[in-house]
Amino acid sequence: MFLQVKVRTADPEEVLARVRKAGLLPPHRKYLSGEGLLVLGYPAENPDETLRGLSRVFSFEEVEETGLSETPLPAPERFSVGPLRFFVPVEAEAPAPGEIYLRSTLSFGSGRHPTTKLCLRLLTELFPEVAPEAVFDLGCGSGILALAAAGLGAQRVLAADIDPRAVREARHNVERNGLSGRILIIRGSLDSAALVRFDLVLANLTIGTLSALLPEIPGVLRPGGVAIVSGISSGQREEILSVVPRAEVLREVTEEGWLALALRF
Ligand SMILES: C[S@@+](CC[C@H](N)C(=O)[O-])C[C@H]1O[C@@H](n2cnc3c(N)ncnc32)[C@H](O)[C@@H]1O
Repeated sequence: MFLQVKVRTADPEEVLARVRKAGLLPPHRKYLSGEGLLVLGYPAENPDETLRGLSRVFSFEEVEETGLSETPLPAPERFSVGPLRFFVPVEAEAPAPGEIYLRSTLSFGSGRHPTTKLCLRLLTELFPEVAPEAVFDLGCGSGILALAAAGLGAQRVLAADIDPRAVREARHNVERNGLSGRILIIRGSLDSAALVRFDLVLANLTIGTLSALLPEIPGVLRPGGVAIVSGISSGQREEILSVVPRAEVLREVTEEGWLALALRF
């Protein structure tokens, strides 16, 4: 086991000089420039003593995170959903062939949250049945659902988010996956797609935003189109369905108190 200490800094050399002076230079260290984090990796022989020593070197605000880990430094992660294989880099390491590169340091959408997992599950399960040509990812975050839709075969994917950091990150991911010809990321919301018609809309949003936007989603769907909606707690099922009384519930899945629905309009 190792003790990993993440220190927020724009000047890793200055931080390392302080650590060295205190006699606490770790055998493993790595600067994650994209995140502005210096990671210090110590063998976890006496973590309390190491942390006590470091508390004399760093202010409370400088330390982003401390934790025990099986690896001395952060390592890329991999996870699968149905046929999709995702690769989560620590810096900008390259994925293996066939893997979807997914960085989510600036935005929501690492794939670990149940609301995202449920969307991915419904998407992979329903994709053969719906066979969407055109997909709209509303509230794309890192772009995870747009990348998944393209990975399953969708030829035209529009993804929108109101948060500029999410837009930047989603564009980075699309470029790194060589999918710029099939996925367009825009800063905006549902009204950005008012003149387009989709076979499938993916919307993992908070309940308030979803309740407000869901009644408008049929307006961007082709007749018989499907919306996969998530971000709903199980107890909010009737509340969300009440805003789209004509929707047919095609499928529903739950995890850890969260519910995602596939609705046909
Ligand atoms: C829960 S995250 C989902 C991210 C990703 N799609 C996923 O499934 O992991 C919701 C995202 O929707 C964005 N968002 C919130 N309100 C929005 C709106 N009215 N229109 C477009 N995007 C919105 C947020 O900025 C955030 O990135």
